[in-house]
Amino acid sequence: MVDSTLPSQPAQYSSDEPPMPEKIGKYEIHSLVGKGSCGFVYKGFDPFVRRDVAVKTSRGFTEDHAHDEDSIQRAFFTEARAAGMLSHPHIVSLYDAGTEDGMNYLVMEFVDGDTLMPACAKNGPRLPVDKVVDIIFKCAKALDYSHSRGVLHRDIKPTNIMLTREGVPKVMDFSVAEVNDPTAVVDAKRNAVGSPLYMSPEQVQRNKLEPASDLYSLGVVMYQLLTGETPYTGADLLHLFAAIRHAPVPPVEAKRSDLPRELSTLINRLLAKKVEERYQSGRELGNDLLRIFERLKQADMNLSRRESRDSLRSLRFFDSFSDEEISEILGASHLLNYAPGQEIVREGEIDGAFYLIARGNAEVRKGNTLIDTLMKGDCFGEIGFLTATRRTATVKAADQVLALRVSSTLLDQVSTDCQLRFYKIFTQTLIYRLSLTNAKLSAAKGG
Ligand SMILES: Nc1ncnc2c1ncn2[C@@H]1O[C@H](COP(=O)(O)OP(=O)(O)OP(=O)(O)O)[C@@H](O)[C@H]1O
Ligand SMILES: [Mg+2]
Repeated sequence: MVDSTLPSQPAQYSSDEPPMPEKIGKYEIHSLVGKGSCGFVYKGFDPFVRRDVAVKTSRGFTEDHAHDEDSIQRAFFTEARAAGMLSHPHIVSLYDAGTEDGMNYLVMEFVDGDTLMPACAKNGPRLPVDKVVDIIFKCAKALDYSHSRGVLHRDIKPTNIMLTREGVPKVMDFSVAEVNDPTAVVDAKRNAVGSPLYMSPEQVQRNKLEPASDLYSLGVVMYQLLTGETPYTGADLLHLFAAIRHAPVPPVEAKRSDLPRELSTLINRLLAKKVEERYQSGRELGNDLLRIFERLKQADMNLSRRESRDSLRSLRFFDSFSDEEISEILGASHLLNYAPGQEIVREGEIDGAFYLIARGNAEVRKGNTLIDTLMKGDCFGEIGFLTATRRTATVKAADQVLALRVSSTLLDQVSTDCQLRFYKIFTQTLIYRLSLTNAKLSAAKGG
């Protein structure tokens, strides 16, 4: 979907914010791209490696936490190192980390795109189900990879997953968020929005987190991508946390009618209250998502096959064919779309195919002279089909044309009965067209 991959507008400064630095460490700072709970994200440039980077800063420590500063600094760099070890196509790479004037900063791969937030918006356009499955599948692969290296994310949420312009998801802020921002829970209490919406039951109870906790949060993101809502909201943090711990998952299928049942079952498992009832690894989740993705694609193909068959069924040429025979012909030919003005066959070319127009109109031209117009149900190219001679005229789509292209070699693949029927109708059509041409010629001679 286009909307979700458009880059966001550069973030604007308000007057009480510090001016944008020209440099942070060795990195040139070009623009502000985002604001997080504990600092700013800039688009920057590494003048040595000569590549764009994202530089994420975090505020200095408050007085309250000054005594913790050393241990927090140590933890920040320990975690940054852990995140820096991760190299995966669906994880934003961490290049560098540093500290300048009491401010910590991380240097990351710059992602030209947007976060998942716009695709989660309540009243925004919803992504198709298969696209959501694809995104969550790739995030599950990323989490499986990081978990296998002992790194938990702890803060999976839409703003921590970027979508490139091509629609490829990349998970970011691995493990750093929690250590980076010791005031996160306090802040959250004040705002009652943000990360708490994505927390697992064990996380809201401040219990030990596991890979399944990250997968729970990913489940909330999936729920929101599909419905525009998180499963739980609350007037305040207390109510929200109580709902996360005790309330059953509001049925996702009630909010998204085109959802296959197996997908709502999968979401319920992702959001189970008990850790042991959930997916235990990204791999396990990925396998199920892949299976569902393939089934959705198959259903899509079946649908387009049925649509193709229906478009041929309405043509006189196929009156005496059964549905199965039409499907056979379709399997051994190509149903092609032509834009207005596009050439279907070109004068002088050798092309052994026969065409049948299923939709739209086409013009037959010899040089610049229009010699015929063709419409739905008309055929052309019979002689080329029989003898592979040069085309004697050009056929161009006059508007949007859908045409069936049949070549004799491919037709050999269909059953003998079907071939016989095809050639019978084909011959009748050819004879009818030749007699029409004859009539035109004698009329021309007579006149
Ligand atoms: N690597 C990156 N490439 C491009 N843009 C980025 C990158 N990282 C962050 N951003 C932009 O900066 C914004 C803020 O990111 P940041 O991680 O600071 O905020 P957050 O996830 O909302 O909060 P938190 O502080 O909890 O992580 C993102 O929403 C995104 O638009
Ligand atoms: Mg973030």
